[in-house]
Amino acid sequence: MSSTDRIIGQPVSRVDGPLKVTGQARYAGEFKPGPLLYGSVVNSTIACGRILKIDTEAAERLPGVVLVLTHRNRPPMAAESEAYEDDDAADGGPFRPLYSDRILYSGQPIALVVAESLEMAEHAGSLIRVEYQRQPHQTDLMTELENAHPAPAELPENRGDAAGAFAAAAIRLELQYSTPVEHHNPMEPHASTVHYLPDGCLEVYDKTQGVQNCMRYLEQVLGLEGRIRVISPFVGGAFGSGLRPQYQLVLAAMAALQLQRSVRVTLKRQQMFTFGYRPRTVQRLRLGAAADGSLLSITHQAIGQTSRFEDFTEHEVEWSGMLYHCSNVSFDYRLVPLDVHTPLDMRAPGAAIGVYALECAMDELAYAAKIDPLELRLRNYAERNANEDKPWSSKALRECYQQGAERFGWATRPMAPRSMREDGKLTGWGMATGIWEAIQMPASATACLESSGRLIVQSATADIGTGTYTVMSQIAAETMAMRIDQVEFRLGDSALAQAPLSGGSATVSSVGSAVQQACMALRQKLLDRAQQSPASRFSGARLQDVAFLDAGLQLSERPETRVTYAELLSLGGSLEASASVEPGEQRNAFATATHSAVFAEVKVDEALGTLQVTRIVSAIAAGRVINPQTATNQIVGGVVWGVGMALQEETRIDHHLGRYMNHNLAEYHIPVQADIGKIEAFFVEERDEIVNDLGSKGVGEIGIVGVAAAIANAVFHATGKRVRDLPITLDKLL
Ligand code: MOS
Repeated sequence: MSSTDRIIGQPVSRVDGPLKVTGQARYAGEFKPGPLLYGSVVNSTIACGRILKIDTEAAERLPGVVLVLTHRNRPPMAAESEAYEDDDAADGGPFRPLYSDRILYSGQPIALVVAESLEMAEHAGSLIRVEYQRQPHQTDLMTELENAHPAPAELPENRGDAAGAFAAAAIRLELQYSTPVEHHNPMEPHASTVHYLPDGCLEVYDKTQGVQNCMRYLEQVLGLEGRIRVISPFVGGAFGSGLRPQYQLVLAAMAALQLQRSVRVTLKRQQMFTFGYRPRTVQRLRLGAAADGSLLSITHQAIGQTSRFEDFTEHEVEWSGMLYHCSNVSFDYRLVPLDVHTPLDMRAPGAAIGVYALECAMDELAYAAKIDPLELRLRNYAERNANEDKPWSSKALRECYQQGAERFGWATRPMAPRSMREDGKLTGWGMATGIWEAIQMPASATACLESSGRLIVQSATADIGTGTYTVMSQIAAETMAMRIDQVEFRLGDSALAQAPLSGGSATVSSVGSAVQQACMALRQKLLDRAQQSPASRFSGARLQDVAFLDAGLQLSERPETRVTYAELLSLGGSLEASASVEPGEQRNAFATATHSAVFAEVKVDEALGTLQVTRIVSAIAAGRVINPQTATNQIVGGVVWGVGMALQEETRIDHHLGRYMNHNLAEYHIPVQADIGKIEAFFVEERDEIVNDLGSKGVGEIGIVGVAAAIANAVFHATGKRVRDLPITLDKLL
């Protein structure tokens, strides 16, 4: 086997790893394209009202301060009603920083101070005095549940008669779960460095999951058609927080336009709590089942919070209609507008919380029916996606259950709660299922074989830490029969080939397919060139007659006909090909999803109420895995976040002030090394010839789905106590 065979499927280390560990990777707030000014954002201290007076004089008088931008002196911008729909927008009028004197939420940016140094800008910001006209605000979802309206979600049709079947069921459960506000908290805070070019164009270094989305957004909001280029080669974690253009981008661009100088705006950690987040929700599940545990009726209702200006909508309840076989299903999803910023997609948006509720309810059903929780799930296994009335393109969930259970040792689990003790601690085992859509979006890529023999492949996608640079290099190298070190993949530049937002676990399916097709088109160009000489041994050969091996081509089974890429390139210079790929029509007849089975072990100190997750096994079915190393990293990261979601994460708001109180990493708890036990994540074999030519479904989100439920179920098994309100902190457990 040569080194150019089978690069797909290998655990290739990140090709951008050396740049990252040597500090050469540049992030949005680190670029220095010539002399820079520094901006510091001032945020509102009230949640609702108007700015009556904003006194910026003292700030402006300071030497080194060049501009204080407020709603009074900002450059023109599109009205909220002229909503440019950024690719991840919610229904409604998007937030526009410094648009008017109205205060829509606590922490809203109300001024940008621009100075020769960041320290000067921050100090000047502290001198700004604001007089507000306060209006009453409401930030508590729980007291406003009555004011919910239907979410503008495309819910599946209700089917059967959920209420009737529930009333007639032998086992009836009515359960309520609640989840808190969570913030993304990536390591890298949001930042934009705007390079003002002499011709009035802006070159923008931004922290984003979608450079072209940010480009179009700035063009349209600030009226700068054709004058924007957005660059983002590295992203220090995003998890959804970089899907929508954030306010520092608009502020930095406005300041640069006004001053005709280059400006950087970096948000501080506390300001990372002043835009999108995972919404607080209340979910009500009604499960009706026969005595043997067969599901007869499912009703899933969710109520989530949103802002006054947009209806943030995610996929919360539909999972309950597709994960198990059930003929009577009813969905309901409502929103409550509050004086807060609009929520934002966060890893497995909707599924992380919707499946949490469903999978806890399934565990409660297992106990009501006195059936092992895993057996209950097998008994209700869905062979089709009944929401769409379609078969699955592939579904190796049974294999996840079986192999996960085996690795975990589930078979020896006693059913009764409080029946296991280890090291003097109550020990519990719980499990849950996970599911996420396998999405594909239109994308393009260009592949160029340079005269030097290097293959440069590019698309305007992002690597948000997921491994995009690496997996795209693998796909290109294998398709072109080259070594991975002969390939360079470029991304994160709006001038490159069209790519969607890097989100929804769709980057490999979308951009990877385009990379593969661009390379296939390049193969044809190589063959064309090989056929150019009249005496060519390739005369009349078609692509399928040709074998590509070790950066060369030959007629199949005829090594004496071999010609290298280098030889062909020397005949006429570099070769380039592009491809644009849409989801294939063969997908239409199928439902596509990734699945997982998660098993968790917890240990609880009964006297103290302290709780440790000692072990997690996560078995994943995600089609073909391009790189088991980066893919496993994704799953392990998702599992760690699931532990945080189950036990720690919660952004607490003081409803009197309408303001987040623990807006820092000291008080917003996320798991640290000591909180994490053994994590075993693995992929089961799943072949899928429908989703795309790569057979790959994406792994960004699935890792977190089901984890919090598996832990909550393990806590019940350990203690006999159901905590239905996340996070499960010791005060709730004691
Ligand atoms: Mo993911 S929440 O689509 O970045």
